[in-house]
Amino acid sequence: MTKPLNQNKMKKLTKEISSHFPLIINLSHQKGGVGKSTLAYNLADSFRILGYKVKLLDIDIQNSCIGLNSLREIPFVNIKKVLNRKELVDIINNSYSDNSEILIIDTDGFDLTLSKLAIIGSDINLTPLSDRVTEILGLVQKYNQTLKEIEPYNQIDISNYILLNKIHPFAKDFKHIEEIISQYPQIDMFKSIIVRDRAIYDKSFIDGRTVFEASELKGHKEAMDEILSICYKLMEIEIDKGVNMAVKRKRLTLDVVKSITDNQEQKDNMDNDKIIEKKTNRVKLKDLEKFSKSVRFPLVWKEEIEKKIDYPTDLSSFIVEAIKEKMEREEMNIFIG
Ligand SMILES: Nc1ncnc2c1ncn2[C@@H]1O[C@H](COP(=O)(O)OP(=O)(O)OP(=O)(O)O)[C@@H](O)[C@H]1O
Ligand SMILES: [Mg+2]
Repeated sequence: MTKPLNQNKMKKLTKEISSHFPLIINLSHQKGGVGKSTLAYNLADSFRILGYKVKLLDIDIQNSCIGLNSLREIPFVNIKKVLNRKELVDIINNSYSDNSEILIIDTDGFDLTLSKLAIIGSDINLTPLSDRVTEILGLVQKYNQTLKEIEPYNQIDISNYILLNKIHPFAKDFKHIEEIISQYPQIDMFKSIIVRDRAIYDKSFIDGRTVFEASELKGHKEAMDEILSICYKLMEIEIDKGVNMAVKRKRLTLDVVKSITDNQEQKDNMDNDKIIEKKTNRVKLKDLEKFSKSVRFPLVWKEEIEKKIDYPTDLSSFIVEAIKEKMEREEMNIFIG
């Protein structure tokens, strides 16, 4: 359960955190609908209410935060759409000089270079997740793989947290999740804070409001407490880490950006090669028929192929070999799609 906030603790935190600015928080998860934008939007408002200068970057192609903000008559924080690597790097690096105190990034998955730069450039990565085991298993491996990939570029101490979101109000035991997460040393759980499944998060979204502005809705106080507690927890984490400004300034150097971009391009090329390879090897039955007519298969081949019909990989390599042979013999040009 979210505990009520202690006033003294709040004051102390607020004073200490200023030496850690800019504090950059990134929300990411490859799965849609887990609550990234909801949290990004509400956290931005919460930090604003606490008196900080907040900038919210929407780097998700879906434009959720930008869209929500456009429903409002008066925008509540500085929201910016960023879909370009250079722009993202400049904003992160310039947040020292443009006086931004809190930068919140609403990302989508872990795969794009832009998302990876956001992860590397942040102090804290927050990943909302439900308490379903299948979802946790689906996330942690991918998350861990991404964190390993960016490890060489991690020049500051990046913290990675899973935040339980949309949790049934009566759910209390999360040991099964803790156990899974404990196997991944780079990922921690936001232990004391669990965001409950509350209609107010959804209903306030409809007209671009945050939970702080929806006082007429049920769960208003509880939702405000949840979001404020996350803000304080984020500040505490940052203060405890004690990473100094000089280190933070190095977060996205040109070398890092170039290296991660090159690596990603190589990976993309490899993925493309794999896709092409798969496509080339995939022989559909109808192509097989066409092919058998065009090359006049010996009957024995056909039988052989029919036996292998349940094993597409074997079948395709068999066919490809056969085609190659036939092409070499007769100099044919056959395209297999
Ligand atoms: N704690 C919560 N309780 C109830 N509803 C929630 C909660 N958090 C988020 N939602 C609702 O879930 C839906 C999806 O949330 P959101 O758009 O923030 O997800 P997302 O991870 O940003 O998805 P996408 O990847 O598609 O951008 C929204 O309608 C939102 O209002
Ligand atoms: Mg979103």
